[in-house]
Amino acid sequence: PSYLLPRTSQDELPAALDQALTDVENQFDTPTDLLKQITDRMLWEFNKGLAGAPTDDESFMPMIPSYLQQVPHGTEKGTYLALDLGGTNLRVCEVELLGDSKWRMKQQKYKVSEALKVGEVTALFDYIAGSVDHFLTEIGTSASEDEKLHLGFTFSFPVQQTAIAAGTLMSWTKGFECKNAIGKDVVQLLQDALDRKHIHVRCSALVNDTCGTLMAAAYERGDCLCGGIFGTGTNGAYVEDIDRLTKMGFQADELEANKRHGLDKMVVNTEWGAFDNERTVLPFTVFDSRVDRISINPRKQAYEKMISGMYLGEVTRNVLLHLVDSQVLFKGYSTRALNAHYGLDTALMSALEAPFVPNSTESGDPLAAVRDVLTSSLGLAPALVADADCSAAARVSEVVGTRGCRLAACAIAATVRQTEQTTQGQEKELVFGLDGSLVEFYPRFEQRVRDALVEILGADQAKKVKIALAKDGSGVGAALCAQAAAAMESKGAT
Ligand code: GLC
Repeated sequence: PSYLLPRTSQDELPAALDQALTDVENQFDTPTDLLKQITDRMLWEFNKGLAGAPTDDESFMPMIPSYLQQVPHGTEKGTYLALDLGGTNLRVCEVELLGDSKWRMKQQKYKVSEALKVGEVTALFDYIAGSVDHFLTEIGTSASEDEKLHLGFTFSFPVQQTAIAAGTLMSWTKGFECKNAIGKDVVQLLQDALDRKHIHVRCSALVNDTCGTLMAAAYERGDCLCGGIFGTGTNGAYVEDIDRLTKMGFQADELEANKRHGLDKMVVNTEWGAFDNERTVLPFTVFDSRVDRISINPRKQAYEKMISGMYLGEVTRNVLLHLVDSQVLFKGYSTRALNAHYGLDTALMSALEAPFVPNSTESGDPLAAVRDVLTSSLGLAPALVADADCSAAARVSEVVGTRGCRLAACAIAATVRQTEQTTQGQEKELVFGLDGSLVEFYPRFEQRVRDALVEILGADQAKKVKIALAKDGSGVGAALCAQAAAAMESKGAT
Protein backbone atom coordinates (compact mmCIF):
# COMPACT_ATOMS: atom_id res chain seq x y z
CA PRO A 1 0.00 0.00 0.00
CA SER A 2 1.11 3.55 -0.43
CA TYR A 3 1.28 5.15 2.97
CA LEU A 4 0.18 8.68 3.53
CA LEU A 5 2.73 9.73 6.06
CA PRO A 6 5.96 10.69 4.29
CA ARG A 7 8.84 9.13 6.09
CA THR A 8 11.80 10.59 4.39
CA SER A 9 10.60 13.98 3.29
CA GLN A 10 10.70 15.11 6.89
CA ASP A 11 13.87 15.31 8.84
CA GLU A 12 15.87 12.24 7.96
CA LEU A 13 15.17 9.48 10.43
CA PRO A 14 18.12 8.05 12.32
CA ALA A 15 19.34 5.05 10.33
CA ALA A 16 18.59 2.47 13.01
CA LEU A 17 15.02 3.71 13.42
CA ASP A 18 14.57 3.83 9.68
CA GLN A 19 15.76 0.24 9.40
CA ALA A 20 13.49 -0.93 12.23
CA LEU A 21 10.49 0.77 10.63
CA THR A 22 11.18 -0.82 7.27
CA ASP A 23 11.27 -4.17 9.00
CA VAL A 24 7.88 -3.49 10.66
CA GLU A 25 6.41 -2.36 7.34
CA ASN A 26 7.54 -5.58 5.72
CA GLN A 27 5.94 -7.67 8.42
CA PHE A 28 2.63 -5.84 8.08
CA ASP A 29 2.63 -5.79 4.30
CA THR A 30 -0.49 -7.09 2.58
CA PRO A 31 0.20 -7.33 -1.16
CA THR A 32 -2.70 -7.74 -3.57
CA ASP A 33 -2.04 -11.44 -4.09
CA LEU A 34 -2.29 -12.11 -0.40
CA LEU A 35 -5.58 -10.18 -0.19
CA LYS A 36 -6.95 -12.28 -3.04
CA GLN A 37 -5.86 -15.47 -1.35
CA ILE A 38 -7.51 -14.39 1.90
CA THR A 39 -10.73 -13.55 0.06
CA ASP A 40 -10.74 -16.98 -1.59
CA ARG A 41 -10.23 -18.72 1.69
CA MET A 42 -12.99 -16.67 3.27
CA LEU A 43 -15.39 -17.72 0.53
CA TRP A 44 -14.41 -21.30 1.20
CA GLU A 45 -15.15 -20.83 4.91
CA PHE A 46 -18.49 -19.13 4.11
CA ASN A 47 -19.60 -22.20 2.22
CA LYS A 48 -18.26 -24.69 4.76
CA GLY A 49 -20.22 -22.81 7.42
CA LEU A 50 -23.43 -22.75 5.37
CA ALA A 51 -23.19 -26.51 4.92
CA GLY A 52 -22.68 -27.63 8.49
CA ALA A 53 -21.28 -27.22 11.95
CA PRO A 54 -17.54 -27.65 12.39
CA THR A 55 -16.33 -30.88 13.94
CA ASP A 56 -13.86 -31.04 16.80
CA ASP A 57 -10.80 -30.83 14.62
CA GLU A 58 -12.19 -28.29 12.20
CA SER A 59 -12.88 -24.68 12.85
CA PHE A 60 -14.54 -22.27 10.50
CA MET A 61 -16.93 -19.37 10.61
CA PRO A 62 -20.28 -20.26 12.24
CA MET A 63 -22.56 -18.73 9.49
CA ILE A 64 -25.55 -18.50 11.83
CA PRO A 65 -29.11 -18.41 10.43
CA SER A 66 -30.90 -15.39 11.92
CA TYR A 67 -34.49 -16.48 11.17
CA LEU A 68 -34.94 -13.08 9.55
CA GLN A 69 -36.41 -13.81 6.14
CA GLN A 70 -37.33 -10.38 4.98
CA VAL A 71 -35.62 -7.07 5.20
CA PRO A 72 -37.68 -3.96 5.95
CA HIS A 73 -39.11 -1.67 3.28
CA GLY A 74 -39.20 1.54 5.26
CA THR A 75 -42.95 1.46 5.88
CA GLU A 76 -42.78 -0.33 9.25
CA LYS A 77 -44.31 1.49 12.23
CA GLY A 78 -44.55 1.21 15.99
CA THR A 79 -42.76 1.90 19.25
CA TYR A 80 -40.31 -0.64 20.61
CA LEU A 81 -37.64 -0.91 23.22
CA ALA A 82 -34.17 -1.92 22.18
CA LEU A 83 -31.26 -3.16 24.22
CA ASP A 84 -27.77 -3.22 22.84
CA LEU A 85 -25.03 -5.20 24.56
CA GLY A 86 -21.67 -6.03 23.10
CA GLY A 87 -19.83 -2.85 22.21
CA THR A 88 -18.25 -0.45 24.62
CA ASN A 89 -21.48 0.36 26.47
CA LEU A 90 -24.85 -1.11 27.24
CA ARG A 91 -27.52 0.98 25.59
CA VAL A 92 -31.22 1.09 26.32
CA CYS A 93 -33.33 2.81 23.68
CA GLU A 94 -36.89 3.49 22.81
CA VAL A 95 -37.33 3.58 19.07
CA GLU A 96 -40.35 4.99 17.32
CA LEU A 97 -40.53 3.72 13.76
CA LEU A 98 -42.34 6.44 11.87
CA GLY A 99 -43.01 4.47 8.69
CA ASP A 100 -41.33 6.74 6.16
CA SER A 101 -37.82 5.36 6.53
CA LYS A 102 -37.44 7.59 9.55
CA TRP A 103 -37.35 7.04 13.27
CA ARG A 104 -37.10 8.86 16.56
CA MET A 105 -34.97 7.50 19.34
CA LYS A 106 -34.44 8.15 23.02
CA GLN A 107 -31.44 6.42 24.47
CA GLN A 108 -29.33 6.07 27.54
CA LYS A 109 -25.91 4.49 27.87
CA TYR A 110 -24.87 2.41 30.87
CA LYS A 111 -21.33 1.43 31.68
CA VAL A 112 -20.58 -2.28 31.94
CA SER A 113 -17.79 -2.64 34.48
CA GLU A 114 -14.87 -4.98 33.91
CA ALA A 115 -16.07 -6.96 36.94
CA LEU A 116 -19.50 -7.54 35.36
CA LYS A 117 -17.83 -8.71 32.14
CA VAL A 118 -16.15 -11.61 33.90
CA GLY A 119 -18.53 -12.28 36.83
CA GLU A 120 -21.59 -14.50 37.12
CA VAL A 121 -23.86 -14.18 34.11
CA THR A 122 -26.93 -13.60 36.31
CA ALA A 123 -25.22 -10.54 37.79
CA LEU A 124 -24.74 -9.16 34.28
CA PHE A 125 -28.37 -9.74 33.36
CA ASP A 126 -29.61 -8.29 36.66
CA TYR A 127 -27.61 -5.18 35.81
CA ILE A 128 -29.16 -5.10 32.33
CA ALA A 129 -32.67 -5.46 33.74
CA GLY A 130 -31.87 -2.75 36.29
CA SER A 131 -30.81 -0.45 33.46
CA VAL A 132 -34.08 -1.09 31.60
CA ASP A 133 -35.91 -0.25 34.82
CA HIS A 134 -33.88 2.93 35.24
CA PHE A 135 -34.58 3.92 31.65
CA LEU A 136 -38.32 3.40 32.01
CA THR A 137 -38.50 5.34 35.27
CA GLU A 138 -36.11 8.17 34.47
CA ILE A 139 -36.49 8.64 30.74
CA GLY A 140 -39.99 7.21 30.39
CA THR A 141 -41.82 5.63 27.49
CA SER A 142 -44.42 6.94 25.11
CA ALA A 143 -46.34 3.65 25.24
CA SER A 144 -49.48 3.56 27.40
CA GLU A 145 -49.40 2.13 30.93
CA ASP A 146 -51.06 -1.20 30.25
CA GLU A 147 -49.37 -1.97 26.96
CA LYS A 148 -46.76 -4.67 27.37
CA LEU A 149 -43.64 -3.32 25.77
CA HIS A 150 -41.87 -5.41 23.16
CA LEU A 151 -38.13 -5.36 23.27
CA GLY A 152 -35.58 -6.24 20.64
CA PHE A 153 -32.33 -7.47 22.15
CA THR A 154 -29.15 -6.81 20.23
CA PHE A 155 -26.70 -9.23 21.76
CA SER A 156 -23.47 -9.02 19.81
CA PHE A 157 -21.82 -12.33 20.48
CA PRO A 158 -21.95 -15.66 18.64
CA VAL A 159 -25.35 -17.18 19.44
CA GLN A 160 -26.75 -20.35 17.95
CA GLN A 161 -30.14 -19.02 17.08
CA THR A 162 -33.08 -21.46 17.02
CA ALA A 163 -35.89 -18.95 16.49
CA ILE A 164 -36.32 -15.20 16.25
CA ALA A 165 -36.47 -15.00 20.05
CA ALA A 166 -34.31 -17.89 21.17
CA GLY A 167 -30.66 -18.76 20.98
CA THR A 168 -27.84 -20.18 23.04
CA LEU A 169 -24.51 -18.50 23.59
CA MET A 170 -21.71 -20.31 21.74
CA SER A 171 -18.74 -18.37 23.08
CA TRP A 172 -17.81 -14.99 24.46
CA THR A 173 -15.74 -12.49 22.46
CA LYS A 174 -14.37 -8.95 22.93
CA GLY A 175 -13.23 -9.26 26.54
CA PHE A 176 -16.44 -10.72 27.99
CA GLU A 177 -16.03 -13.96 29.92
CA CYS A 178 -19.04 -14.32 32.26
CA LYS A 179 -19.39 -17.57 34.10
CA ASN A 180 -22.20 -20.06 33.55
CA ALA A 181 -23.37 -18.57 30.30
CA ILE A 182 -22.16 -20.79 27.46
CA GLY A 183 -24.98 -22.99 26.21
CA LYS A 184 -27.69 -20.90 27.94
CA ASP A 185 -30.57 -19.25 26.10
CA VAL A 186 -29.82 -15.53 26.33
CA VAL A 187 -33.44 -14.48 25.80
CA GLN A 188 -34.42 -16.63 28.77
CA LEU A 189 -31.63 -15.12 30.86
CA LEU A 190 -32.89 -11.64 30.03
CA GLN A 191 -36.58 -12.44 30.46
CA ASP A 192 -35.96 -14.08 33.85
CA ALA A 193 -34.01 -11.04 35.01
CA LEU A 194 -36.80 -8.68 33.83
CA ASP A 195 -39.43 -10.84 35.51
CA ARG A 196 -37.47 -10.96 38.78
CA LYS A 197 -37.74 -7.17 38.85
CA HIS A 198 -41.40 -7.21 37.74
CA ILE A 199 -40.67 -5.12 34.68
CA HIS A 200 -43.48 -5.36 32.15
CA VAL A 201 -41.34 -5.88 29.13
CA ARG A 202 -41.25 -8.86 26.83
CA CYS A 203 -38.13 -9.74 24.88
CA SER A 204 -39.54 -10.71 21.51
CA ALA A 205 -36.49 -10.69 19.27
CA LEU A 206 -32.84 -11.58 19.60
CA VAL A 207 -30.50 -10.09 17.07
CA ASN A 208 -26.82 -9.76 16.35
CA ASP A 209 -25.65 -6.17 15.83
CA THR A 210 -24.69 -6.93 12.22
CA CYS A 211 -28.20 -8.20 11.43
CA GLY A 212 -29.63 -5.15 13.18
CA THR A 213 -27.39 -2.87 11.15
CA LEU A 214 -28.51 -4.58 7.95
CA MET A 215 -32.19 -4.21 8.93
CA ALA A 216 -31.73 -0.54 9.86
CA ALA A 217 -29.88 0.26 6.63
CA ALA A 218 -32.58 -1.48 4.58
CA TYR A 219 -35.29 0.48 6.44
CA GLU A 220 -33.51 3.73 5.76
CA ARG A 221 -32.45 3.12 2.15
CA GLY A 222 -34.94 0.55 0.90
CA ASP A 223 -32.16 -1.89 0.12
CA CYS A 224 -29.14 -3.44 1.76
CA LEU A 225 -27.05 -6.51 1.00
CA CYS A 226 -24.82 -6.64 4.05
CA GLY A 227 -24.60 -5.13 7.52
CA GLY A 228 -21.09 -4.91 8.89
CA ILE A 229 -19.51 -3.80 12.14
CA PHE A 230 -15.98 -2.50 12.41
CA GLY A 231 -15.97 -1.39 16.02
CA THR A 232 -14.83 -3.07 19.23
CA GLY A 233 -15.22 -6.31 17.27
CA THR A 234 -15.82 -7.04 13.62
CA ASN A 235 -18.50 -9.11 11.95
CA GLY A 236 -20.95 -9.07 9.07
CA ALA A 237 -24.40 -10.37 8.12
CA TYR A 238 -25.73 -10.66 4.59
CA VAL A 239 -28.78 -11.86 2.71
CA GLU A 240 -28.30 -15.45 1.52
CA ASP A 241 -30.41 -17.73 -0.67
CA ILE A 242 -32.12 -20.16 1.62
CA ASP A 243 -31.30 -23.14 -0.59
CA ARG A 244 -27.61 -22.54 0.00
CA LEU A 245 -28.13 -22.72 3.77
CA THR A 246 -28.04 -26.47 3.49
CA LYS A 247 -27.37 -27.04 7.18
CA MET A 248 -30.96 -25.96 7.95
CA GLY A 249 -32.00 -29.23 6.34
CA PHE A 250 -34.95 -27.96 4.33
CA GLN A 251 -36.55 -30.57 2.05
CA ALA A 252 -37.18 -29.76 -1.61
CA ASP A 253 -40.93 -29.26 -1.05
CA GLU A 254 -40.27 -26.90 1.88
CA LEU A 255 -37.90 -24.86 -0.25
CA GLU A 256 -40.55 -24.67 -2.98
CA ALA A 257 -43.18 -23.53 -0.47
CA ASN A 258 -40.78 -20.95 0.93
CA LYS A 259 -40.17 -19.61 -2.55
CA ARG A 260 -43.89 -19.32 -3.24
CA HIS A 261 -44.29 -17.25 -0.08
CA GLY A 262 -41.36 -15.05 -1.00
CA LEU A 263 -39.35 -16.51 1.86
CA ASP A 264 -36.45 -17.76 -0.19
CA LYS A 265 -33.81 -15.66 1.55
CA MET A 266 -32.43 -15.48 5.02
CA VAL A 267 -30.08 -13.10 6.76
CA VAL A 268 -26.97 -15.00 7.84
CA ASN A 269 -24.70 -13.83 10.66
CA THR A 270 -21.27 -14.88 9.43
CA GLU A 271 -19.24 -14.24 12.61
CA TRP A 272 -16.38 -13.43 10.28
CA GLY A 273 -14.29 -12.30 13.27
CA ALA A 274 -13.57 -16.02 13.69
CA PHE A 275 -12.20 -16.32 10.15
CA ASP A 276 -8.99 -18.32 9.84
CA ASN A 277 -8.70 -19.40 13.45
CA GLU A 278 -6.72 -22.25 11.92
CA ARG A 279 -4.15 -19.73 10.66
CA THR A 280 -3.97 -20.83 7.06
CA VAL A 281 -3.64 -17.45 5.33
CA LEU A 282 -3.75 -14.49 7.69
CA PRO A 283 -0.36 -12.77 7.98
CA PHE A 284 0.41 -13.32 11.67
CA THR A 285 3.37 -11.32 12.97
CA VAL A 286 5.07 -11.88 16.29
CA PHE A 287 3.03 -8.93 17.56
CA ASP A 288 -0.26 -10.59 16.63
CA SER A 289 0.78 -13.82 18.27
CA ARG A 290 1.61 -12.02 21.45
CA VAL A 291 -1.70 -10.12 21.49
CA ASP A 292 -3.49 -13.40 20.92
CA ARG A 293 -1.52 -15.39 23.48
CA ILE A 294 -2.32 -13.08 26.37
CA SER A 295 -5.90 -12.37 25.36
CA ILE A 296 -8.72 -14.10 27.23
CA ASN A 297 -9.63 -16.08 24.12
CA PRO A 298 -6.35 -17.34 22.60
CA ARG A 299 -6.61 -18.98 19.17
CA LYS A 300 -10.08 -17.49 18.71
CA GLN A 301 -11.28 -14.51 16.65
CA ALA A 302 -8.08 -14.47 14.60
CA TYR A 303 -9.37 -12.04 11.97
CA GLU A 304 -11.05 -9.77 14.53
CA LYS A 305 -7.75 -9.41 16.40
CA MET A 306 -6.07 -7.91 13.31
CA ILE A 307 -8.89 -5.54 12.46
CA SER A 308 -11.13 -4.35 15.23
CA GLY A 309 -10.98 -1.50 17.70
CA MET A 310 -10.44 -3.67 20.72
CA TYR A 311 -7.13 -4.95 19.34
CA LEU A 312 -5.63 -2.48 16.85
CA GLY A 313 -4.31 -0.25 19.62
CA GLU A 314 -2.94 -3.29 21.40
CA VAL A 315 -1.03 -4.44 18.32
CA THR A 316 0.30 -0.90 17.85
CA ARG A 317 1.38 -0.77 21.49
CA ASN A 318 3.31 -4.00 21.04
CA VAL A 319 5.10 -2.69 17.96
CA LEU A 320 6.02 0.55 19.73
CA LEU A 321 7.40 -1.43 22.67
CA HIS A 322 9.48 -3.52 20.30
CA LEU A 323 10.99 -0.31 18.92
CA VAL A 324 11.59 0.94 22.46
CA ASP A 325 13.27 -2.33 23.38
CA SER A 326 15.37 -2.07 20.23
CA GLN A 327 16.58 1.29 21.59
CA VAL A 328 15.44 3.17 18.50
CA LEU A 329 12.35 4.91 19.89
CA PHE A 330 11.81 7.31 22.82
CA LYS A 331 15.50 6.94 23.70
CA GLY A 332 14.71 3.41 24.86
CA TYR A 333 12.23 4.49 27.56
CA SER A 334 8.67 3.31 28.03
CA THR A 335 5.88 4.45 30.33
CA ARG A 336 3.27 2.87 32.53
CA ALA A 337 0.58 3.28 29.84
CA LEU A 338 2.83 1.79 27.18
CA ASN A 339 3.48 -1.22 29.38
CA ALA A 340 -0.13 -1.78 30.40
CA HIS A 341 -2.16 -4.49 28.68
CA TYR A 342 -4.59 -2.58 26.42
CA GLY A 343 -2.86 0.63 27.52
CA LEU A 344 -3.08 2.21 24.06
CA ASP A 345 -6.67 2.84 23.12
CA THR A 346 -7.41 2.54 19.41
CA ALA A 347 -8.86 6.07 19.56
CA LEU A 348 -5.23 7.20 20.02
CA MET A 349 -4.40 5.86 16.57
CA SER A 350 -6.93 8.27 15.13
CA ALA A 351 -5.29 11.06 17.09
CA LEU A 352 -1.81 10.05 15.86
CA GLU A 353 -2.81 9.89 12.20
CA ALA A 354 -5.43 12.62 11.87
CA PRO A 355 -2.92 15.53 11.89
CA PHE A 356 -1.42 14.22 8.64
CA VAL A 357 -4.67 13.84 6.72
CA PRO A 358 -4.84 16.53 4.02
CA ASN A 359 -7.63 19.03 4.60
CA SER A 360 -8.08 17.79 8.15
CA THR A 361 -9.51 20.28 10.56
CA GLU A 362 -6.29 20.17 12.48
CA SER A 363 -4.05 23.03 11.62
CA GLY A 364 -0.48 23.72 12.47
CA ASP A 365 2.42 21.38 12.77
CA PRO A 366 1.40 17.69 12.61
CA LEU A 367 4.49 16.57 14.49
CA ALA A 368 3.61 18.94 17.33
CA ALA A 369 0.09 17.47 17.42
CA VAL A 370 1.52 13.96 17.61
CA ARG A 371 3.95 15.01 20.34
CA ASP A 372 0.96 16.30 22.31
CA VAL A 373 -0.76 12.93 22.04
CA LEU A 374 2.34 11.00 23.03
CA THR A 375 3.05 13.15 26.05
CA SER A 376 -0.49 13.66 27.28
CA SER A 377 -2.01 10.23 26.58
CA LEU A 378 0.96 7.91 26.88
CA GLY A 379 2.74 9.86 29.58
CA LEU A 380 6.04 10.29 27.73
CA ALA A 381 8.31 13.07 28.98
CA PRO A 382 8.71 15.70 26.22
CA ALA A 383 12.49 15.28 26.34
CA LEU A 384 12.09 11.66 25.16
CA VAL A 385 10.07 12.59 22.10
CA ALA A 386 12.11 13.95 19.21
CA ASP A 387 10.52 14.77 15.85
CA ALA A 388 11.73 11.45 14.51
CA ASP A 389 9.90 9.63 17.34
CA CYS A 390 6.69 11.49 16.49
CA SER A 391 6.80 10.59 12.85
CA ALA A 392 7.78 6.99 13.65
CA ALA A 393 4.92 6.54 16.13
CA ALA A 394 2.39 7.91 13.65
CA ARG A 395 3.85 5.70 10.95
CA VAL A 396 3.54 2.57 13.11
CA SER A 397 -0.09 3.42 13.71
CA GLU A 398 -0.64 3.89 10.01
CA VAL A 399 1.04 0.60 9.14
CA VAL A 400 -1.01 -1.43 11.65
CA GLY A 401 -4.23 0.40 10.78
CA THR A 402 -3.73 0.10 7.04
CA ARG A 403 -3.26 -3.63 7.31
CA GLY A 404 -6.51 -3.76 9.31
CA CYS A 405 -8.42 -1.81 6.65
CA ARG A 406 -7.01 -3.94 3.84
CA LEU A 407 -7.92 -7.15 5.61
CA ALA A 408 -11.39 -5.71 6.29
CA ALA A 409 -11.80 -5.28 2.54
CA CYS A 410 -11.41 -9.05 2.11
CA ALA A 411 -14.65 -9.70 4.01
CA ILE A 412 -16.49 -7.17 1.87
CA ALA A 413 -15.04 -8.67 -1.30
CA ALA A 414 -15.93 -12.20 -0.18
CA THR A 415 -19.52 -11.10 0.47
CA VAL A 416 -19.71 -9.49 -2.97
CA ARG A 417 -18.51 -12.71 -4.57
CA GLN A 418 -20.72 -14.96 -2.44
CA THR A 419 -23.83 -13.06 -3.47
CA GLU A 420 -22.79 -12.68 -7.13
CA GLN A 421 -25.30 -15.31 -8.21
CA THR A 422 -28.23 -13.32 -6.88
CA THR A 423 -27.00 -9.88 -7.75
CA GLN A 424 -25.56 -10.70 -11.16
CA GLY A 425 -26.83 -8.62 -14.02
CA GLN A 426 -28.24 -6.06 -11.64
CA GLU A 427 -26.94 -2.65 -12.33
CA LYS A 428 -27.83 -1.41 -8.90
CA GLU A 429 -25.39 -0.71 -6.14
CA LEU A 430 -24.36 -3.36 -3.64
CA VAL A 431 -25.12 -1.63 -0.37
CA PHE A 432 -22.97 -2.34 2.67
CA GLY A 433 -24.43 -0.67 5.77
CA LEU A 434 -21.48 -0.28 8.13
CA ASP A 435 -21.25 0.86 11.70
CA GLY A 436 -18.66 0.93 14.46
CA SER A 437 -16.01 3.21 15.85
CA LEU A 438 -13.48 2.52 13.08
CA VAL A 439 -15.98 3.33 10.34
CA GLU A 440 -17.02 6.45 12.15
CA PHE A 441 -13.80 7.82 13.55
CA TYR A 442 -10.72 6.20 12.06
CA PRO A 443 -9.24 8.61 9.50
CA ARG A 444 -9.43 7.38 5.87
CA PHE A 445 -11.00 4.06 6.85
CA GLU A 446 -13.23 3.97 3.81
CA GLN A 447 -10.48 5.15 1.47
CA ARG A 448 -8.10 2.43 2.57
CA VAL A 449 -10.81 -0.23 2.34
CA ARG A 450 -11.77 1.01 -1.12
CA ASP A 451 -8.21 0.96 -2.43
CA ALA A 452 -7.92 -2.68 -1.40
CA LEU A 453 -11.35 -3.52 -2.83
CA VAL A 454 -10.24 -2.25 -6.22
CA GLU A 455 -7.13 -4.45 -6.00
CA ILE A 456 -9.17 -7.55 -5.08
CA LEU A 457 -12.27 -7.13 -7.24
CA GLY A 458 -11.10 -4.87 -10.04
CA ALA A 459 -12.30 -1.32 -10.55
CA ASP A 460 -15.63 -2.16 -12.23
CA GLN A 461 -16.97 -4.46 -9.57
CA ALA A 462 -15.52 -2.42 -6.73
CA LYS A 463 -17.36 0.62 -8.09
CA LYS A 464 -20.69 -1.08 -7.46
CA VAL A 465 -19.99 -1.39 -3.75
CA LYS A 466 -21.71 1.38 -1.86
CA ILE A 467 -20.48 1.88 1.68
CA ALA A 468 -23.16 3.57 3.76
CA LEU A 469 -22.60 4.63 7.34
CA ALA A 470 -25.43 3.04 9.31
CA LYS A 471 -24.99 4.88 12.56
CA ASP A 472 -26.86 3.45 15.53
CA GLY A 473 -28.07 0.67 13.29
CA SER A 474 -28.13 -1.89 16.03
CA GLY A 475 -30.69 0.00 18.16
CA VAL A 476 -33.04 0.70 15.28
CA GLY A 477 -32.41 -2.79 13.89
CA ALA A 478 -33.43 -4.40 17.17
CA ALA A 479 -36.68 -2.42 17.09
CA LEU A 480 -37.27 -3.55 13.51
CA CYS A 481 -36.74 -7.16 14.55
CA ALA A 482 -39.17 -6.78 17.45
CA GLN A 483 -41.60 -5.32 14.92
CA ALA A 484 -41.04 -8.26 12.54
CA ALA A 485 -41.57 -10.73 15.40
CA ALA A 486 -44.78 -9.00 16.46
CA ALA A 487 -46.01 -9.01 12.86
CA MET A 488 -45.24 -12.73 12.52
CA GLU A 489 -47.00 -13.44 15.79
CA SER A 490 -50.12 -11.58 14.82
CA LYS A 491 -50.24 -13.58 11.58
CA GLY A 492 -50.16 -16.69 13.75
CA ALA A 493 -46.89 -17.82 12.26
CA THR A 494 -44.44 -19.68 14.43
C1 GLC B 1 -17.77 -9.96 17.81
C2 GLC B 1 -19.00 -10.82 18.09
C3 GLC B 1 -20.03 -10.63 17.00
C4 GLC B 1 -20.32 -9.15 16.81
C5 GLC B 1 -19.03 -8.39 16.54
C6 GLC B 1 -19.25 -6.89 16.36
O1 GLC B 1 -17.15 -10.44 16.67
O2 GLC B 1 -18.63 -12.18 18.19
O3 GLC B 1 -21.23 -11.32 17.33
O4 GLC B 1 -21.22 -8.97 15.75
O5 GLC B 1 -18.13 -8.60 17.59
O6 GLC B 1 -19.81 -6.32 17.50
